[in-house]
Amino acid sequence: MRERTLAIVKPDCLAEGHAGEVIQAYEAAGLRLAAARVERMSAERAGELYAEHVQKPFFGELVEYMTSNPVLVIALEGEDAIAAVRAVNGATDPAEAEPGTLRYRLGDSVRRNAVHGSATTEDARRELALFFPELARG
Ligand code: RTP
Ligand code: MG
Repeated sequence: MRERTLAIVKPDCLAEGHAGEVIQAYEAAGLRLAAARVERMSAERAGELYAEHVQKPFFGELVEYMTSNPVLVIALEGEDAIAAVRAVNGATDPAEAEPGTLRYRLGDSVRRNAVHGSATTEDARRELALFFPELARG
């Protein structure tokens, strides 16, 4: 199914100059950029993005990490885009990620894992609306 999803190049990954490599990997998987923007996320925005994790022990550190420096937020579109981005990203823990995935190549640890991708259709809709409301309307 043709769909849209949200990916994020996390702060350390962007600062280290890997944005091009990340975009290239998504494009090589057949996805196309619908929108992209560099921004410094507010703690409120990061909390909304990761609302499902508010009770987790790592939530505070996650918000701190995501707001520590600018990120690149990307709206991607294509066939099964949500699953495609998750496949290119790899497992949450880079130590468990398949070779060739972005987290295997660029992730430092389970908490600092280079990239984000929406997990479900509902998450993608909600996350796109957070960062690119103009797309959610279309
Ligand atoms: P994401 O939402 O960033 O695409 O990652 P994900 O679905 O693969 O993993 P998720 O469970 O949603 O976790 C969100 C982010 O929280 C940090 N995390 N730390 N055990 C830990 O310390 C831990 N687990 C998760 C990571 O930054 C993860 O991407
Ligand atoms: Mg997630």
